[in-house]
Amino acid sequence: MFHAQILTLFPEFFDSPLSCSIPKRAIAAGIVQVETIQIRDFATDKHHSVDDAPYGGGPGMLMKPEPVVASIRAAREQHPDTHVVMLTPSGSRFTQAKALEFIEKPGVTLLCGRYEGFDERICNYVDEQISLGDYVLSGGEPAAICVLDALIRLLPGVLGSPESAVLDSFSEEGILDWPHYTRPENFEDKRVPAVLLSGNHAAIESWRRAQAKARSKNRR
Ligand code: ADE
Repeated sequence: MFHAQILTLFPEFFDSPLSCSIPKRAIAAGIVQVETIQIRDFATDKHHSVDDAPYGGGPGMLMKPEPVVASIRAAREQHPDTHVVMLTPSGSRFTQAKALEFIEKPGVTLLCGRYEGFDERICNYVDEQISLGDYVLSGGEPAAICVLDALIRLLPGVLGSPESAVLDSFSEEGILDWPHYTRPENFEDKRVPAVLLSGNHAAIESWRRAQAKARSKNRR
């Protein structure tokens, strides 16, 4: 079974997204096991502090190394072969290729930060630093749930048809998905492209390829 451990100050953040739809079913089916670990439980001072002011001055607070590193060690103790991923806006960009790479591991440990970020020395204790994109979130948690969701749906047995994961946007590097239509055939004078009603599978395939290519060129 694939395992996911989430190191966080807000374990409750994950309750709702993991309790619906595909993630819920994947957990119930025993395909993935998700566990949260409260970083604050590893704070050793009497105030259980997890943050401190930056050396050199500047705004905000940083995640302190001691409790974070202790939580990473606890995660590795439970799953010695886990792949530890720090969520940070200064990491490498998360892509579908990364998701496919991560599901080949026995499991992942997603390290979520709050405040202005992590003490740089924490980076020595993780395997990889990942960013969701070039914008700053209020913490690593929303990034971690996106990463986790992207992994879960790729795990064998999670999606109804294994084809749907393969045919996704991005499965082919840099190519976006083509447009999709369902009933009704005419919605407020907007019609389903005639080729999709033609029953000509070769023509449909070639229309879809062309649409995907045009869309990728225009949007990216
Ligand atoms: N934490 C804050 N912003 C983030 C981002 N864009 N990606 C990953 N982790 C983050």
